[in-house]
Parts: sequence; structure tokens; C-alpha cells
Amino acid sequence: MSSSQGNAGQPGALRAVSESATRPAAVGSDAVGSDAAFGVSIRSIDRDFPGERGAPRRVLRDITIDVTPGEVLAILGTSGCGKSTLLRLAGGLDTATAGSILIDGSPVTPFDARTAVGFQEPRLLPWRSVTQNVALGLPRGTPKAEGDARVATLIDLVGLGAFAGNRPREISGGMAQRTSLARALARNPGVLLLDEPFGALDALTRLKMQDLLLDVHAAAPTTVLLVTHDVDEALQLADRIILLGREDGLEGSTIIQEIVVPGRRPRDRGSAELAELRGRLLAGLGIDRHGEARGVEKTTAMPAFPY
Ligand SMILES: Nc1ncnc2c1ncn2[C@@H]1O[C@H](COP(=O)(O)OP(=O)(O)OP(=O)(O)O)[C@@H](O)[C@H]1O
Ligand SMILES: [Mg+2]
Repeated sequence: MSSSQGNAGQPGALRAVSESATRPAAVGSDAVGSDAAFGVSIRSIDRDFPGERGAPRRVLRDITIDVTPGEVLAILGTSGCGKSTLLRLAGGLDTATAGSILIDGSPVTPFDARTAVGFQEPRLLPWRSVTQNVALGLPRGTPKAEGDARVATLIDLVGLGAFAGNRPREISGGMAQRTSLARALARNPGVLLLDEPFGALDALTRLKMQDLLLDVHAAAPTTVLLVTHDVDEALQLADRIILLGREDGLEGSTIIQEIVVPGRRPRDRGSAELAELRGRLLAGLGIDRHGEARGVEKTTAMPAFPY
């Protein structure tokens, strides 16, 4: 199911991020200008890297998945399992050892202009203002008036209208991350690739950013591949979740679970249905129902105070 069939365009889907100045402007997809959402077809991808003494070490094995236009696909997996590698391949930032990736039906190209990438850190230029940083994302050759209007609309969308002239050191970490998201959207990508975009934020800001991403996606329903460590984030944001992991006796991660998340967004974080899926995903990540990692020694006694 794609979110364009789910939330996008749904009346009232554009919700406030919070009661404060972070509230995004109510803009429609025309204003944001995202006129394309591309399908991504990942076919039998293997990725090997040189291992010990140059022998190939398989990181990804036989990954096949079709992401439909406008869908939000979350990619979960333990650290080092190859999530970022898969995202880099989808953006043409790396080349697969075997297999192919098609975007909108044609092979991904190096640094594919149909995609935009958002990272865990905002990677802003410190000497440039919020506006100038967002403008860096505009496709080359965008006419000035059109670019200025687009940047202003995106800055409003991410709730930073009052901070457009500020430099990165004059805004908070959450604001910097919103600037980075607006810069990625400035590219008008058919596919937005997000690698743990909220991973460095505190828990509350993270929840607000998740809501913001929903709002942004409702206004500009592009295809999103979202890498995250956070099971709840995946359940809240994604139409579908894939879990990467190793199968017994085989080298390299492949898709070991695929879950279609039921219900329209925003979802009730406390629902029994999501709780069941959370348990399944956590078990796939090697965490049991009580939050304990298998194979890790449990601490039973609290040290006496003063510690
Ligand atoms: N350019 C590279 N050369 C050699 N090995 C690499 C390269 N890029 C990634 N790897 C290896 O591939 C494996 C997967 O890395 P990747 O960064 O994709 O993991 P990840 O799932 O994103 O981890 P994390 O959750 O910690 O970000 C790691 O063992 C890493 O060392
Ligand atoms: Mg990573």
C-alpha cells in the first residue's frame, strides 16, 4: 500500500508539529512542487567489500524489493547489517556487486539526480544562512525567482520561517535537521533517502520530527526510503517495514522480515496491533519482550548509593 493511497491528500492530514513556532505552513503539493514520486525496483542485489587479505566479504545478499511511488519504506536492522549500504546503492552513491536497481523504470545513475539524501547529521554550511543552505539543494539551473519561491515555501513547511536568516550555530539541533530536510526536498526528489535522520536528536524532538515528516510527506508525497534503528519510528512512519538480517549459515544480510503496517497515519502508538508488530520486529532484532538483548548478561543488583 502506498501512503498516497493512505494519508496523503487526506483532509486534515497536515497536522501541527507542536503548538509553537514549529508549526508548518499549510501548503499543498503544488506549492511544494514535488510533482513526481518514483518507484524503486531493487533486484537481486549483492554487495561485497574487500575483507581480510582482500578476500570479498559479503555485506548484502540477494535483496529484492519493489517500492511503489509515494510509499514510505522503513529499513530496520542491527548496526553494521548494511542499511546505509543499501540506501547508498539506491542513491547511486555506491555500485552493487551483482543485481540492479531501477528508479522509475531506468537504472540508477551515479549520484542520481532523481534522489536526495538526508543524513543523521544535518551537514549544513556554517557560514550560510538557513535560506542559503536550503537553496543549495535546488537543482542546477533553477531560475532565481522560482528557486527563491520554492526555498521560502519549504522553509515555511518545516516551520523555520522566523529563522530563515539565521546561521546554523544560531538554531537548535532539531531546527538544523529540519533545514537539512528542506534542503533535500529543494531538489524535488522523486525518491527521498533518509539515513537515520532523527538519530542524533533527543526523544521529544525526535517525536516532533516524525510528525513533521508525516506532514511533509502529506504535502509532497514523494517515495521515501527511511533507515532507522527505532522500531516505533518505523511503525509510526512507514507503509511497509523490511528487517535486514543474516540467515543461518549464509554471509551477508538479506530481507528476513517484511511487514505491511496497518492503519492510517498518524497511528495510535499504543494500539495492540502495533504492539504485536513491535514484538515481532524486536524479536527479529534479537531483543526479547522484556527489552533484553539475547546473549547479554543481565544486571540484577543496583549498586549501593553513593554510586
Ligand atoms: N566502503 C566500504 N568499504 C568497506 N566496508 C564497508 C564500506 N561501507 C560499508 N562497509 C561495511 O559494510 C558493513 C555494513 O555497513 P553499513 O554502514 O551499511 O551498516 P549499517 O547497517 O548502516 O550500520 P549502522 O546501523 O551502524 O549505521 C559494515 O561492516 C561496514 O564496515
Ligand atoms: Mg548506517
